[in-house]
Amino acid sequence: MTNVAVIGAQWGDEGKGKVVDWLAERADVVVRFQGGHNAGHTLQVASETYKLSLLPSGVVRGTLSIIGNGVVVDPWALLEEIGRLRGQGIPVAPETLRLAENATLILPFYGHVDRLREQRRGKGAIGTTGRGIGVAYEDKAGRRAIRVADLYDGAALRDKVSHLLEHHNALLRGWGAEELLPDELIATLEDVRRPLAPYVDCVWERLDTLRRAGKRILFEGAQGILLDVDHGTYPFVTSSNTVAAAAAVGSGMGPGAVGYVLGIAKAYTTRVGGGPFPTELRDQVGQHLAERGREFGTVTGRPRRCGWFDAVTVRQAVRLSGMDGIALTKLDVLDGIEILQVCTGYRVGDRLLSRLPASQAEQAVAEPVYEQLEGWPGSTASATGWARLPATAVKYVRRIEELIGCPVAMLSTGPDREDTIAMYDPFVD
Ligand code: IMP
Repeated sequence: MTNVAVIGAQWGDEGKGKVVDWLAERADVVVRFQGGHNAGHTLQVASETYKLSLLPSGVVRGTLSIIGNGVVVDPWALLEEIGRLRGQGIPVAPETLRLAENATLILPFYGHVDRLREQRRGKGAIGTTGRGIGVAYEDKAGRRAIRVADLYDGAALRDKVSHLLEHHNALLRGWGAEELLPDELIATLEDVRRPLAPYVDCVWERLDTLRRAGKRILFEGAQGILLDVDHGTYPFVTSSNTVAAAAAVGSGMGPGAVGYVLGIAKAYTTRVGGGPFPTELRDQVGQHLAERGREFGTVTGRPRRCGWFDAVTVRQAVRLSGMDGIALTKLDVLDGIEILQVCTGYRVGDRLLSRLPASQAEQAVAEPVYEQLEGWPGSTASATGWARLPATAVKYVRRIEELIGCPVAMLSTGPDREDTIAMYDPFVD
């Protein structure tokens, strides 16, 4: 039985939500394994739009949904999202949503610390979502974090909160900011202890049982490979590993459990926040992509930077995550553009590179080398079969496959579930 991991192959916002939703129909369980409520997954089902940040996209279909240990969980955001979905008629219940007892919590002051850090970075700001994601992962690695299970261990919680605040108050004092009181934090945590309790579970054990029973597991990645804390455009990255291997670590399963890796890439490129973006377009074409693609962040509403498809970074993503297939999304946004450019290498000084350099300084000056491809006059919007695509659109897709070294397994031609051309279904084929 093949499990499937859905992984962003660019800087996030590739359209993973729709693809996960499409696959969730055939999955028995959907698992989030990294990131937190910095993610924004939009699902369009019939005339209803669902915006998810923390919940696995399977919840909308009533598929068993699991928040793994690798996720950093803001309990207030989680409860708010559950309430919002219920308001839209989706019955999110403990039978269908499980939360890892060893997941790290995002505490109410983390967002404040995140934003203070950003201010202090000045021009070098990362452009984080301000949700305290990085603070949570730092505390986790610093072995002072509060985890879900700690909420139910009163005596230990007091000690842990004191230890944690000793660290944060030292920092806040140094920055001249107001310090935090342990009793206040403990009282605040009391508010979420009970409502969260029915969802708390030993997730690794449940997943192992499901796997042994031959159930189909869908791992839902958040962000994208270029935001990976090791392999991305460091330091302009998120604080988790976004590569496919993180699916195993972040859910408590062996690497063999991951199965088929489906990368998701837009037919062009976008990025939110700061950091290098070699194929960025600061001209009318970039503006056209932003408008046509409605490129505004789901979580923060910030406009996304837009540019040409970068085959170098997607090829790197394919190799870093062992991607077996790519779902190419938003092809219709390129409709009507006469000449398309695809980046096939970078020039750094007098060197020609076939990969993104690790050095921050070199990433900042890397000049894209483009291959020009013919656009198409017709429309690909809502096409559901290859035969409906203009010949040059098919050529564009085929050339991308060659350049990235990975087959396109799925094409998305619009926001609806039905606007999809599937060449390969990893759960069935
Ligand atoms: P953080 O994850 O909030 O710490 O933000 C770090 C970087 O990751 C910033 O550039 C964010 O814009 C980016 N980022 C975080 N989550 C997402 C996402 O879901 N989509 C796109 N970019 C994201």
